[in-house]
Amino acid sequence: MSPVLELRGVSASYGPFRALFGVSLTVEAGGSLALLGSNGAGKTTVARVASGLVVPTSGSVLVDGEDLTGARPHQYARAGVAHAPEGRSVFATLTVAENLRLSFRRTHGASGLSCALDRAYDLFPQLGNRRSQMAGTLSGGEQRMLSMARVLVNPPKLLIADEPSLGLAPIIIDEVYQSLRAIREAGTAVLIVEQQVGHALQLCDRTAVLGHGAVEWEGPADEATDVMVGQMFTTGEDG
Ligand SMILES: Nc1ncnc2c1ncn2[C@@H]1O[C@H](COP(=O)(O)OP(=O)(O)O)[C@@H](O)[C@H]1O
Ligand SMILES: [Mg+2]
Repeated sequence: MSPVLELRGVSASYGPFRALFGVSLTVEAGGSLALLGSNGAGKTTVARVASGLVVPTSGSVLVDGEDLTGARPHQYARAGVAHAPEGRSVFATLTVAENLRLSFRRTHGASGLSCALDRAYDLFPQLGNRRSQMAGTLSGGEQRMLSMARVLVNPPKLLIADEPSLGLAPIIIDEVYQSLRAIREAGTAVLIVEQQVGHALQLCDRTAVLGHGAVEWEGPADEATDVMVGQMFTTGEDG
């Protein structure tokens, strides 16, 4: 079986600024990769490259064995990549249901709308209980769940979650990670970008550590803790 995502020697720039230098990464079908690294290491840029938002200056991006280098974000979405960007990215003055309908009408069309809504409420029961609530009044964790639910196409092959724990209280982070685990167990591969390493390492089988736009280490998640001792990571948990 082809990996669901493969980056081969990807370099990327923002204008004259080079953000990635020959990054190679693989996420197996149904697998899970925690992408760790300090602020500015290039994690978000990898997430953007993997969903077509940033086009590499060299190297290639394969989704499910298909070369999508240079393809548009909607083509990545159609190939099964869902990208939950950093931050909450919800419409604060619309209800939970309206936020979901807006996204699903675009990705599923009018005919697939109610099916997609049911699936989102199955995966995130807390959102189902709050479907008429204004998104801006949800807790931080619920807003994060909503931003993930919005991108879950039917069911995606790969969910890229960029710092799903950022700015959340520990108990809320637990809830967000329980949802990620449920998504994983339903067969979707996950690429979790994190600075808070504890939860990501528990959820994921593999780990890649990014530094200054390059992969510094890659291996099984249970070996990553040792590797990162002495590095400047925020663990978020007391470890
Ligand atoms: N839109 C942009 N324009 C210019 N530089 C950017 C842009 N986005 C990110 N960068 C730079 O690219 C580098 C990597 O950023 P990013 O991928 O967001 O890192 P991380 O997510 O690991 O914190 C940083 O030095 C950042 O300042
Ligand atoms: Mg980032």
